[in-house]
Amino acid sequence: MPLSVIILAAGQGKRMHSDLPKVLQPLGGMTLLEHVVHAAAALKPAHIHVVYGHGGDQVPATLGHLHVHWVQQSEQLGTGHAAMQAMQHISDDHVVLVLYGDVPLVRSTTLQKLTDSAAHGELAVLTALVADPSGYGRMLRDAEGQVQRIVEHKDAGAAERRITEINTGLMACKASLLHRWLKEVRNHNTQKEYYLTDVVAMAVTEGVLVHGVTAAEESEVAGVNDRKQLAAAEATLRQRIADALMQQGVTLRDAARIDVRGQLSCGRDVVIDVNCVFEGEVKLGSRVHIGPNTVIRDCEIGDDSEVFAHSVLDGARIGARVRIGPFARIRPESELGDETHVGNFVEVKQSRLGKHSKANHLTYLGDAEIGSEVNVGAGTITCNYDGVNKHRTVIGDGAFIGSNTALVAPVTVGAGATIGAGSVITRDAPAEALTLERAEQKTVKDWKRPQKKS
Ligand code: UD1
Ligand code: CA
Repeated sequence: MPLSVIILAAGQGKRMHSDLPKVLQPLGGMTLLEHVVHAAAALKPAHIHVVYGHGGDQVPATLGHLHVHWVQQSEQLGTGHAAMQAMQHISDDHVVLVLYGDVPLVRSTTLQKLTDSAAHGELAVLTALVADPSGYGRMLRDAEGQVQRIVEHKDAGAAERRITEINTGLMACKASLLHRWLKEVRNHNTQKEYYLTDVVAMAVTEGVLVHGVTAAEESEVAGVNDRKQLAAAEATLRQRIADALMQQGVTLRDAARIDVRGQLSCGRDVVIDVNCVFEGEVKLGSRVHIGPNTVIRDCEIGDDSEVFAHSVLDGARIGARVRIGPFARIRPESELGDETHVGNFVEVKQSRLGKHSKANHLTYLGDAEIGSEVNVGAGTITCNYDGVNKHRTVIGDGAFIGSNTALVAPVTVGAGATIGAGSVITRDAPAEALTLERAEQKTVKDWKRPQKKS
């Protein structure tokens, strides 16, 4: 049977106290809604319908890249009403899986169990046993353990509130059944909302088996309603990613202190020290060491390279056996060749360093094309910006740039050239020669230091 997924994402998320619709809150570098869409997409459904509403077009506008069908719910009249908006686009021969945009960490394997059960004609409801069921709908079962209905926290009596098996909100059944049941849902409850959960009692009345599938872990089905739950979800995700990395053979100095907000792939024997953040797509070669407090976004780093503490790398391609930092900043479109060294307080922007070139201290290399075996002395600055335009600096192989040199671009330093320390280089420096720009040094022999007046 073809599968249609409905993701309910129209709610405001009042408890977030945010201007952002709740499902756009970030979790591990993605919005909450994207996590749910990814989990759903793994089941290869025919369609994913996302019901949006609060915040106007902000949700579809922000997430226009997703392959989903957007369904508007202009008034948020409850989960049952929301599901009905999407059901208009789903034919009777489909299996329907309902997910929530604010339950982001559900696993595809769990969802598969729900849809399998639904394909057998059952109403599958994902439940969980939780320590603190407060706020959730509770599963009411009869003496034989059969699910009878769901009661919302706000509608529940004291005894019902003591039940610790909760409704996660996720369910699956044949579309033909859901079409029929949703028409019967009424809003006669404390919140005056159309509850999707009311279909459970309808199934029981009709003799359709309600299959309560219990989630393996509580964290998988945790809803995100406030900042505290968002932080808890972040911690769950962090742990999952750390576990997966360690299973692949990565050494994490502290598994609780790594944040991967995107895709991190690692070769063999990679070591990652504490408090590192990885964003976007990061690829680390084998035996790469990442020092503590390092932020790396969209970078590729070759084998045996080492990034020392407190470095920030963004959009760079870094070769093998490279040493970066501590306190280095590599900005987008930079390429550091094999065996290059970029040391403390060095910033590299849109620049290329050839094999075995070094800029070890206190340097800015912007819009520069640097050959191999170049030594850039401490305090060298490429003056790439004239206030209006950016200009390039080209440095040939084997050049030696003395400390505290200002290279006023556009300028070229030839191969094997030496630039004397303290120079302001405004014209091209020829290859294999010494070029320097410096006032001549004077010594005043009989000069006396001033004396303090008595
Ligand atoms: C819901 C369930 C509750 C369950 C809990 C699990 C109902 C009636 N209750 O309660 O049994 O324990 O989730 O997290 O279903 N939404 C819409 N349109 C609406 C209302 C809600 O799209 O008109 C969306 C929200 O954006 C959210 C989801 O549906 O993604 C759940 O809505 P929410 O109001 O958070 O329901 P809960 O009160 O948490
Ligand atoms: Ca909720």
